[in-house]
Amino acid sequence: MTTSQNVLVTGATGTVGRQVVAELLARGHAVRALTRDPAKADFPDGVEAVRGDLTDPDSLAPALEGVTGLHLITFGGACFAPLETGPRILELARAAGVRRVTVLHGGGPSPLEDAVRADDGVDWTVLMPVEFMSNALEWAPGIVDADEVREPFAGRLSAMVHEGDIGAVAAVALTEEGHAGREYVITGPEPLTVGDKVAALAAARGREISLVELTQEQAITRWRAAGHSEDVIGFLLEVYGNTPEVGRTVVDTVEKVTGRPARTFAEWAAEHAAAFGATGAA
Ligand SMILES: NC(=O)c1ccc[n+]([C@@H]2O[C@H](COP(=O)([O-])OP(=O)(O)OC[C@H]3O[C@@H](n4cnc5c(N)ncnc54)[C@H](OP(=O)(O)O)[C@@H]3O)[C@@H](O)[C@H]2O)c1
Repeated sequence: MTTSQNVLVTGATGTVGRQVVAELLARGHAVRALTRDPAKADFPDGVEAVRGDLTDPDSLAPALEGVTGLHLITFGGACFAPLETGPRILELARAAGVRRVTVLHGGGPSPLEDAVRADDGVDWTVLMPVEFMSNALEWAPGIVDADEVREPFAGRLSAMVHEGDIGAVAAVALTEEGHAGREYVITGPEPLTVGDKVAALAAARGREISLVELTQEQAITRWRAAGHSEDVIGFLLEVYGNTPEVGRTVVDTVEKVTGRPARTFAEWAAEHAAAFGATGAA
C-alpha cells in the first residue's frame, strides 16, 4: 500500500493531464492542478486549482510548495512551442522537495525533456504514449452529420492507447518506487486499422458508419484546406503512410506498471458513444 502524496500536474486541463489528475485522485493522493486560467478550468471536487505559466517558471513557485511529485508537459503556448524553461522549473522543483517527475514525451526533440533526463536530483520517468484513442473524436462531426469517415491510408495499423491508461501509468510512476530513469512506451492492447476503429465506433453507437478511403492527393488537399503547414502535412504523410514500428507494436507497459490490462478501443468507444451520435443519446 502506498502512502498519500502531493502531486502537481501541469497540462491538467488537457487530454492526458485530466487523466493524470483523475488517476491520482482515484488512488487517494492530493492533487494540485496547474492552469493558466483557473476560472475556466473545471477540475473534479477535491482538486486544488493553481495558476501558473510554464513559460514563466517563477510563476510555479507557489504551486510547487509542499509537493513531492510533478507531472510535466514539454510545450507551452498556442503553437505548442517547445519549452526552454526546464532547468529553472527543475531547480524550483528540487528546492520545493519534489522527488519524482514524469514528463509526457512530445514526439520530437524537447529541451525540457532533455533537462529532466539530465537531472540526477529527482527520480524521473519519461512517458512515451503512441497515438491517443481520443484522436478518433476528430471523426465525430463527419460521423454525426454524414455517417461516414473519410481517411487516407485506411489499412494503416495503430496500437492506440486509452488516455486514461497514460494517466494511470503516470500516477503510479509519480507515487511509487521502481520507475526512476525509465522510458515507458505506452500502447493499447491491439493494433487496429482505420476500418477496425470505424467498426468499433459503429457498434458502440448502434448505427453503421461508411469508411471512404481518400487518395493521398485528396488528403493533402483536405489538410491544406484545414490550414496545416507543408511541414505538418509532410509529418502526417510520413506517420500515416509509413507508421513507425513503435506506433503499431503492442507493449505491456500498462499491465506491468498498473497491474491491470490496457483498455481496448471498444471500451473507449462505448465511453464516448454519445459524441458519435449514439442511438438514444441526447
Ligand atoms: N494526440 C496524440 O495522439 C499524441 C500521441 C503521443 C504524444 N502526444 C503529445 O501529447 C502532448 C499533448 O497533450 P494533450 O493532448 O494532453 O494536451 P492538450 O489537450 O492540447 O492540452 C494542452 C495543455 O497544455 C497546457 N498549457 C499550454 N501552454 C501552457 C503554458 N504556457 N503554461 C502552462 N500550461 C500550458 C494547457 O493548460 P491551460 O490552457 O489550462 O493553461 C492544457 O492543459 C503533445 O506533446 C503531443 O505531442 C500526442
